[in-house]
Amino acid sequence: MPDAAERLQQLREEAETAVRAARSSSELEDLRVRFLGRRSELTGVLRSIGELPASERGPVGQAANSVREAVESLLTEHGRVLQSAELDARLVADRVDVTLPGDPPSPNGRLHLVTQTRREIEDIFTGLGFSVVEGPEIELDYYNFTALNMPPAHPARAMQDTFYVSDDVVLRTHTSPVQVRTMETHEPPVYVIVPGRVYRRDSDATHTPMFHQVEGLAVDEDITLADLKGVLLEFVREIFGREREIRLRSSYFPFTEPSVECDVSCFACGGAGTLRDGSRDPLCKGSGWIEILGAGMVDPNLYGFVADRGYDPERVQGFAFGMGIERIAMLRHGVPDLRMFFENDLRFLEQFA
Ligand code: PHE
Repeated sequence: MPDAAERLQQLREEAETAVRAARSSSELEDLRVRFLGRRSELTGVLRSIGELPASERGPVGQAANSVREAVESLLTEHGRVLQSAELDARLVADRVDVTLPGDPPSPNGRLHLVTQTRREIEDIFTGLGFSVVEGPEIELDYYNFTALNMPPAHPARAMQDTFYVSDDVVLRTHTSPVQVRTMETHEPPVYVIVPGRVYRRDSDATHTPMFHQVEGLAVDEDITLADLKGVLLEFVREIFGREREIRLRSSYFPFTEPSVECDVSCFACGGAGTLRDGSRDPLCKGSGWIEILGAGMVDPNLYGFVADRGYDPERVQGFAFGMGIERIAMLRHGVPDLRMFFENDLRFLEQFA
């Protein structure tokens, strides 16, 4: 019996030392198992009390139970202390300072200058009563050439360096194929513009293999070259400033007759051709005029390709024009090299917010 009492006292001291030394509540859980668990020495003592001589059962039982209670209450008490320290530590570690600014906002993107310019052009022409339509970039030779008065082997096909996909499919070299496409599906009157990508086998400071055009087509009764000129003048004044003038020079396109080239009065020299210091204006090369687009009256021959859609050349006339979007943007913003549009250098792109 003295042995048992001594051992219990030892166990109590061991347990108290271990509990006091514990640094975390999970360590305490381990100690609870070690000292009070089903297979612990103390539980063993309590379980085997029945095997002791009757005289020892009472004192050993009491001693074992009091050790048990003491260890239990120490575990509980110390557990509380550790848990509240752990909570404090977690609160400090996980603290979110809601007064701090958030992650730096990712910079807002902006529209590419070509897209901005395209939209401005669309706005101007929709304001004049035109609708915006589109056509395929991979185009039948028929629409790109044949239905524009350029049958196979016609020398005018050589005016545009073409990417052929197959014998009768090309990457469209201009937006003009959408003229006949539009007339096929819309009876007159028609007032449309056609923005989109076009492709030519061509590459230098003023030519890229892909660029953008906007086509214009108006077909109605009593349309004349004066209507074309009025529309172009209004467009030019909207995009380059109210004081601009235009002039039409005769030109040639297979699908317009007569054909013209439209020039805008130079916005660097005001049309004088010379700068303030008397030197030749490099923008207009001293001419006072800058070429901006090709145009003309729709060649009546084109109506023959859509005769079944009500395009009677005796009744309807029309004008068409086509301009390069990059060229308009370059002139307006002084961009020196067409290739800058497609290099994706943010230092360039970010200038056009
Ligand atoms: N499609 C011609 C070109 O790309 C431009 C144009 C369009 C000319 C419409 C006249 C009428 O050069």
